This record gives sequence, C-alpha cells and structure tokens, in this order.
Amino acid sequence: MRILSGIQPSGKLHLGNYFGMMRPALELQEQGETFLFIANYHAMTTVSDAAQLRTDTRDVALDFLACGLDPERTIFFRQSDVPEVHELTWILSTLTPMGLLERCHSYKDKLARGIDATHGLFAYPVLMAADILLYQSNLVPVGRDQKQHVEVTRDLALKFNHRYGDIFTIPEPSIREEVAVVPGIDGQKMSKSYGNAIDLFGSDKETKAAIMSIVTDSTPLEDPKDPESCHVYALYKLFVSPAEAAEMAAKLRAGGYGYGHAKKELIAAYHALLDPFRSRRAELAAAPDYVEEILLRGAARARAAAAATLKAVRQATGLE
Ligand code: ADP
Ligand code: TRP
Repeated sequence: MRILSGIQPSGKLHLGNYFGMMRPALELQEQGETFLFIANYHAMTTVSDAAQLRTDTRDVALDFLACGLDPERTIFFRQSDVPEVHELTWILSTLTPMGLLERCHSYKDKLARGIDATHGLFAYPVLMAADILLYQSNLVPVGRDQKQHVEVTRDLALKFNHRYGDIFTIPEPSIREEVAVVPGIDGQKMSKSYGNAIDLFGSDKETKAAIMSIVTDSTPLEDPKDPESCHVYALYKLFVSPAEAAEMAAKLRAGGYGYGHAKKELIAAYHALLDPFRSRRAELAAAPDYVEEILLRGAARARAAAAATLKAVRQATGLE
C-alpha cells in the first residue's frame, strides 16, 4: 500500500496541522510505503517572497523530522525537486472540467479571504491530483478540509482511466474523525489564517499565552461544567490517553474545578508531548546539510516512482 500526503510551507505549523495531518500520516508510516512532501509549488499561490518560501520550506522539513518522520522508511521530499509533476498536471488539466474546479470550497474560501484570484490558485486541485496520482497512492491522510480535493483527484483518475486505460490507482482520503477539525483558541477550526492557532513549536511564553486565552464560558468555578462544550478539554484529549482525558472530564463535571485549572493541565500536556520534539528539532536545525541530504535522497526515490507512472501515461495518451 502507498500512503501519500503533503503540506504547504506557508507559515508556522500549528496543532491542527499536527493532530489533523502530521500525526496520522506519521502513524501510517508503519503500514506501507509512505511519501510525504513539502508542497512548495502550492505555497506559491499565497507566498510571493523568495526568502520567506525558503525559510518556511526548511522549517516544515525540521518540523516533520522532529515529530518522528523516519527518513529511512518514508520518502520525504520537496515538491519542486520532482518537476515531473507538472507534466502530469498539464495532462490532467486537459480533462479537468472547469465546473469541477469552480465548485471547490477551498478556492472560494481563499478568494473570500482576499487572496489573488490567479490561475495557479484556481488550478491548485489539479496539481494536487498530479501529486497523488504520480505516485499511484492508495491512501491520502489529510484533515477534513482537503477531502474535496481528494475527491477531485478520484474524479480525474477515473476519467483518465476511462479514456486511456487503467493507469492510475484510485486513491482514498484517510480522515480521522476524532481529529478532523481541531479547534483553535476561539473554538473555530484552528487555522493559520484565522489568527486562532497554537503553534506546534511556539516559545514557552507564546504557548502559555495562547492556551490561557482559549475562550471558555462564564460558568463559575464551583459549578459543574460540560466537557463536550469545553475547547480546552477538546484540545487536552488530543494530547493524553483516554484514561487521562476521562479524569479531566470527571473533574469538569464534578464542579469545583475551573477552566484555569484545565488550561494549566493542557500546558503541561503540551510540554510533555512537544518538549522532546523540540530538542530534536534544535539538533536538526544545527545540521542543515544532513536535512538537505535527506530531502535530496527522498527526491531521488520519488523521481524513480514518478518516472514509471509518467512513462505509462505518455504511452497511453499518444505522447510516445
Ligand atoms: P491552515 O488551515 O492553517 O492554512 P492547511 O490548509 O495548510 O492549514 O492544512 C494543512 C493540513 O493540516 C491539511 O491536511 C489540513 O486538513 C490539516 N489541518 C489544518 N488545520 C486543521 C485543523 N484545525 N484540524 C484538522 N486538520 C487540520
Ligand atoms: N493542499 C494540501 C493542503 O493545503 C497540501 C497538498 C498538496 C497535499 N498536495 C497534496 C495533501 C497531496 C495531500 C496530497 O494542506
């Protein structure tokens, strides 16, 4: 089985990215041949500063490796180190109906947030389909907001296979319901563009400030509280075992336990999980050549897989 996912280097990664995509993808490393990549071509739809794109790309590489990506097992690469993806993008775009792209929520949401309506932004899902199909991926671990893009990919693969013969594997999204939408400090979906994120590698001070500002209701300290409507609990649950989560839920329900107490426990849980990753990240940041070598080795392996698919596609379409 082939597992593939990508993430854009378009700003600091946050807990929504970690629990929604990175951790599920990293857990799947054990179950098949995994491809993870840094989608820097996609990030160009929103990042236009060269130095920024380079720094963000390096940071995502460090973040993934620090969080447990095993570069021996997993093929980890920069999207732009496999330019073959553009050939497949073009071929797919010749069978992509305009209406399919016009219906994509992510495009409409980005326009509503003031991002320029470029052809790249509009065609973004075709490049994503090429990312997935080029490696004959079976499973694509993503958060819920990317589900529609995987559906577009499936449509294009089916259309291509129908027209030219069975070349592409039809991929499935892999979405963990319990982490499909990780809430931010205001209870809405955590997103870098909503200003409600808790960074994965923020400083101690920033993390504490973000967690202490999670919105809670005004139930007095002594009263019972409903864990299911508490955003602090929703985040805490992601960090700890079910037994520890049940303990906090019981304390909230019992009363006499305030949101401030819950926030302190969340800060401790954050550090218990992330401090070891943080030390690893600092070591990797001090070894840029080692990180670069991992990415180049990943790209060479990815290119070999890409070449096999492209060869079949070129023959099936009459390009060869
Ligand atoms: P953002 O919304 O901050 O711009 P991206 O769109 O770059 O994040 O998302 C990168 C990956 O992380 C995608 O797979 C996406 O589904 C996942 N993801 C982002 N935010 C969340 C969230 N709040 N909950 C679950 N998954 C998320
Ligand atoms: N569009 C994805 C996001 O914003 C990133 C991405 C690009 C991706 N290509 C992909 C994810 C292929 C999964 C598979 O998060």
